[in-house]
Amino acid sequence: MTSVHAPTDAAIADAVAALLRGDLIGLPTETVYGLAAMGLDAESVARIYAAKDRPAFNPLILHTTCGLDALDEQGVVDLSRLGPAARQTARRLAERSWPGPLTLVLPRGPAVPDLTTAGLDTVGVRHPDHPIARRVLNAIDRPLAAPSANRSGRISPTTAQAVADELGDRVALVLDGGICPVGLESAVVHVDSAGRLTLLRPGVRTADEIAAWADAPVVTATKDPETPRSPGMTARHYAPEVPFYALPFRLSQASEIDIDGLRALAAPHRRAAVLCWEQAHADAVTAATLGIPTDAVAIDPLGDPVATARGLYATLRDLDRSEADLLLAEPFPPTTFADEGLAYALRDRLRRATTPWPP
Ligand code: TXA
Ligand code: MG
Repeated sequence: MTSVHAPTDAAIADAVAALLRGDLIGLPTETVYGLAAMGLDAESVARIYAAKDRPAFNPLILHTTCGLDALDEQGVVDLSRLGPAARQTARRLAERSWPGPLTLVLPRGPAVPDLTTAGLDTVGVRHPDHPIARRVLNAIDRPLAAPSANRSGRISPTTAQAVADELGDRVALVLDGGICPVGLESAVVHVDSAGRLTLLRPGVRTADEIAAWADAPVVTATKDPETPRSPGMTARHYAPEVPFYALPFRLSQASEIDIDGLRALAAPHRRAAVLCWEQAHADAVTAATLGIPTDAVAIDPLGDPVATARGLYATLRDLDRSEADLLLAEPFPPTTFADEGLAYALRDRLRRATTPWPP
């Protein structure tokens, strides 16, 4: 098993030494824990793909504490391939949103190995807003590649122990930064040579906020083959290991036909767990509902979107490790959030974690 370390000076020094040797570490960021390695070193980066069983077509994000112009000088990005307006847009985004949970996809510079970007001519970069990530980055003084520290296709870890549980000996050590304060992965925005912005992955930084920082409109990635896409945004992702269905109705409002269908679904299972969005809805679920023992969990009983985002993955991970061998989610409530963008990111992650029911 790997070891989890409080972020003492000695532990940071060990983490830096491990990275310089080419090993992988578990690194807390404000979004989720990353599986970090020297991002400009192809052999180190290859270990990330192996440890995660990550498909070679899925590019990695580089983490840095530098601004865009320094990254350009280091050959990490190539701002000369952006038109003047796009360059200004990219600079505004970096200056106004970093450090923070926003990844910019920009023309890739010559220092970045093919493996880091899965052969793409763009590279994702971000400056994480987390004191431990920044201490390590400042000590290393080179970009670190860091995908979320889960095995490919599984739930991103938001605690150090979750990283150790996911990756075991595949990671040299894990620095413990407590629970990640954001809890969802960064928003990913592609900046094209004309300065057009495409949101490839929604995050807690909403399209409106990004547009305001950039002083330019942001479009959301579509199925249109012309718009850039994130190779990692495959439909099913962030998923528990046991079957997890998204219901189109609350259990307490299901018709008799719906309940019959669900009982047939549940019959071969030992125990079900239902993710609800209000305590009262969870309280309404009993063993009689599905005909097998059923736990109901409410997250966000107080209507706090930030806490919901922070706790979502930990809740999914707990449900996945519970006795339940069947998971159901009630429909995400029509948003009452002031922040519609965050609800959009939460719905996106839930959709990727679940299979629609009925099929
Ligand atoms: O919050 C985060 O971004 C976390 C923490 C650790 O920083 N990292 C993270 O990395 O979520 P990962 O690898 O799990 O997700 C990165 C996403 C993937 O969907 C990948 O396909 C996309 O970003 N991506 C990376 N580089 C890209 C590029 N050049 N073009 C398009 N999409 C890219
Ligand atoms: Mg990931």
